[in-house]
Amino acid sequence: MLSLDSASPMPESLDRLPPKFLPVFEILGHLEDEYRKGSPVNPGASVHLYLLGLSHRFAGQGIAQRLVAESTATAARRGYRLAVAEATNRTSQHIFRKNNFVERVQGSYVLNPVFTPIVGHGVPILMDKAI
Ligand SMILES: CC(C)(COP(=O)(O)OP(=O)(O)OC[C@H]1O[C@@H](n2cnc3c(N)ncnc32)[C@H](O)[C@@H]1OP(=O)(O)O)[C@@H](O)C(=O)NCCC(=O)NCCS
Repeated sequence: MLSLDSASPMPESLDRLPPKFLPVFEILGHLEDEYRKGSPVNPGASVHLYLLGLSHRFAGQGIAQRLVAESTATAARRGYRLAVAEATNRTSQHIFRKNNFVERVQGSYVLNPVFTPIVGHGVPILMDKAI
């Protein structure tokens, strides 16, 4: 998982991801636009959690839940007061809810046929939490 100041640009290394990631970033961009509604993001105020994931070999041991908890605690220690995350399936939504994140904006996968295989796995949701 990446934890970035919400005012920072995405790391340049993400440009090297295969083009198949583009539809995902497009959805995340729509959720973010809907959430911000044009209001400015001030550096140092909000931390953004991206791309939660781990090797399937380590799944189901509570690692993702601890990663979210530790990342938000670290951000709070560094002075951030809000954590924002896009949770793109039911498992990650469950994990963020258990960490007291609240749903703010809901998107949809049906607009792009590339997502057809995962339509039954929930909708993309932007969530946040005061920290
Ligand atoms: C999603 C992912 C990060 C979870 O990692 P993990 O370390 O296995 O997760 P944890 O063990 O911390 O927690 C899993 C929780 O989800 C629950 N869960 C599992 N499948 C679920 C489902 N289909 N719907 C809802 N909750 C589910 C588990 O019961 C567990 O909750 P519990 O502790 O309350 O019982 C991991 O499966 C992954 O990398 N998936 C591929 C990438 C991905 O989908 N990332 C999310 C994008 S935001």
